[in-house]
Amino acid sequence: MSITFSVKDHAVTNADFAAMAEQIKACHAALHNKTGKGNDFVGWVNWPTAYDKDEFARIQKAAKTIQDQSEVLIVIGIGGSYLGTKTALDFIRTPFYNERKKDTPDIYFVGNNISSAYLNDILSILGNRDFSVNIISKSGTTTEPAIAFRIFKQLLEQKYGKDGAAKRIYATTDRARGALKTMCDAQGYETFVIPDDIGGRFTVLTAVGLLAMAVADIDITQVMAGAQWAEATFSNPDVLQNPCYQYAAARNIFYRQGKSIEILANYEPHLTSFGEWYKQLYAESEGKENKGIFPVCANFSTDLHSIGQFIQEGSRYFFETVLWCKEPKSTVLVPFDEEDLDGLNFMAAKDMQFVNSKAFSGTMLAHIDGGVPNMVIEMERMDAWHFGALVYFFEKAVGISGYLLDVNPFNQPGVEAYKKNMFALLGKPGYEDLRADLEKRL
Ligand code: PA5
Repeated sequence: MSITFSVKDHAVTNADFAAMAEQIKACHAALHNKTGKGNDFVGWVNWPTAYDKDEFARIQKAAKTIQDQSEVLIVIGIGGSYLGTKTALDFIRTPFYNERKKDTPDIYFVGNNISSAYLNDILSILGNRDFSVNIISKSGTTTEPAIAFRIFKQLLEQKYGKDGAAKRIYATTDRARGALKTMCDAQGYETFVIPDDIGGRFTVLTAVGLLAMAVADIDITQVMAGAQWAEATFSNPDVLQNPCYQYAAARNIFYRQGKSIEILANYEPHLTSFGEWYKQLYAESEGKENKGIFPVCANFSTDLHSIGQFIQEGSRYFFETVLWCKEPKSTVLVPFDEEDLDGLNFMAAKDMQFVNSKAFSGTMLAHIDGGVPNMVIEMERMDAWHFGALVYFFEKAVGISGYLLDVNPFNQPGVEAYKKNMFALLGKPGYEDLRADLEKRL
């Protein structure tokens, strides 16, 4: 059970890491001693050991109740209030979780867009089935989940009455503030806490992710065990001894060489949504003050048939990090064919994972030859333990990486700009002047 990291083809060497050792130590100290930028949002650093054990037990109990009384769980949230949860289901279970025959409720995610077509599709898939809702919003004021919650709350109240609905609504939100918290207190919904000192995109190991994982019968104690291992393993301030810090340092070295895009590539559809989670974590943490590495994800071998040409021969301003899993979840052998009309018998009886691994190695070397530096983050298998460990690896690395860039990795001031314009254009009271200005420009 481990997570390993390597830079391929000596693109970055131990001497390069050693040259950054003091800088990394300073970033480590700022993070651990809470003296760096955004220091009121670093609660995630020791969360795997410091998490609230009583609340953890309450999450397990609530999950059991949801399993007993519902065929479907509707998870409402956006950004950090949903991406990690979706990732966990795909990674630990399968992207086909809902389609698979199982004893646990189907889980659908809503409130992560403003599409009426999407919402109507989920409503029709839900049909008359018994359901519960987990509304997740740290601020309690985000428009997308708030609209979806209105709809599903009304549906629950029509179906089960106000009191019955209240027993099926679980809210994960701020301990004390926000419209959602006020509503929960008034209506008597069970609430779970998003800690004050953990920003949205760092919350998957809190109730935000854990409740739905437990509903899907994921062993959340194993998730936390993996994260605890990572917390201990990646707390060594010495970059030469710390693979997580080496990843952060290597990214910074490539960035300073003019490579301002990172492609996080995987060879496994179970990891596609992990890429989406990583995109939010890295983009919102680093993209500030006209600085940062733009995070992109690629799903291979699928995307080798779409963006593969560009990666091989297009403009050279990116580097690639491959997320590789050694053990497949299951095996399929390439069959032997008497006629061999497709000429594939040289692969007959080989496991598809073996073929996939050769696609990975061959692609990596081709990309390196094409001028794209490659790094590899490798895990043994896609299970609950490795999920917790990998989440923590990426969180810790972006904390260090953000400090290396000298930005505050834990705020997201830029996401407010579009919201202000949207509210003005929707006619929210107080935004009249802005609305007049914007309408002139449209
Ligand atoms: O990382 C963040 O803080 C944001 O991306 C939030 O996760 C996202 O905007 C959702 O916010 P909230 O949970 O307050 O509804």
